[in-house]
Amino acid sequence: MSQLIEYIKDQIWILEYPVRFGGMNLYGRMTIIKLDNGELFIHDPCEIDGLAKHEIDAIGEVKYIIAPGSYHHLFVADFQMKYPNAETFLCPGLERKRPDIKFDWILGNMPDHRWGNALEQVVVQGTKYIWEVAFFHKPTKTLILVDLLENIGDDYRHSASRLLRFWWKVVFRMWNNPKAAPEYQVGWGKKNIVKNGLDRILGWKANRVILAHGELIESNVKNILSTAWRNVLIE
Ligand SMILES: [Fe+2]
Repeated sequence: MSQLIEYIKDQIWILEYPVRFGGMNLYGRMTIIKLDNGELFIHDPCEIDGLAKHEIDAIGEVKYIIAPGSYHHLFVADFQMKYPNAETFLCPGLERKRPDIKFDWILGNMPDHRWGNALEQVVVQGTKYIWEVAFFHKPTKTLILVDLLENIGDDYRHSASRLLRFWWKVVFRMWNNPKAAPEYQVGWGKKNIVKNGLDRILGWKANRVILAHGELIESNVKNILSTAWRNVLIE
């Protein structure tokens, strides 16, 4: 059942998982990064079955569980149960939204020294409803986002329901048009602060984007990000 994919040889693995949003069936995406010492960094954990756990254990030792955004926390506890020795890091604000989740650290603008050789990170402070911590894997120039960019359109690998098409095409205007999550369409919060975070992401000059919802982006990254975030960047 596990659909774990080795995305970049011996460095990055991804696994899509089903989620429901506004009555629609969607997918999220967990990313696993292997650090030089074999430790695993689990970004946006999902529920895993026995086979997936077996596959993950064959890659390395799960050490860090990352809940990277205000809406990406649903399966943290499940992952913690399977890996009780791993440390958990939360996007700021989740400690209030989900006081039941046990955690060790709150993510900030500086990477933890244990993954700082491999990853950059920045907190993007949105509205009170949505914050996200963006990560950049330096060895592979891979940007890792959850809700700051969603990419669902004609090349979507899953069958999109009529409801999903209606919302994405008619309401959100996000079909074939990568944009930040619908939550950002009601506002970005303090744009000058958000812009600082987005500018830092653009400065990383990523070659590809792993995102939670929709198809990965492997070319033209700068243009796609600049277009998706133009309402903030041109302020
Ligand atoms: Fe999301």
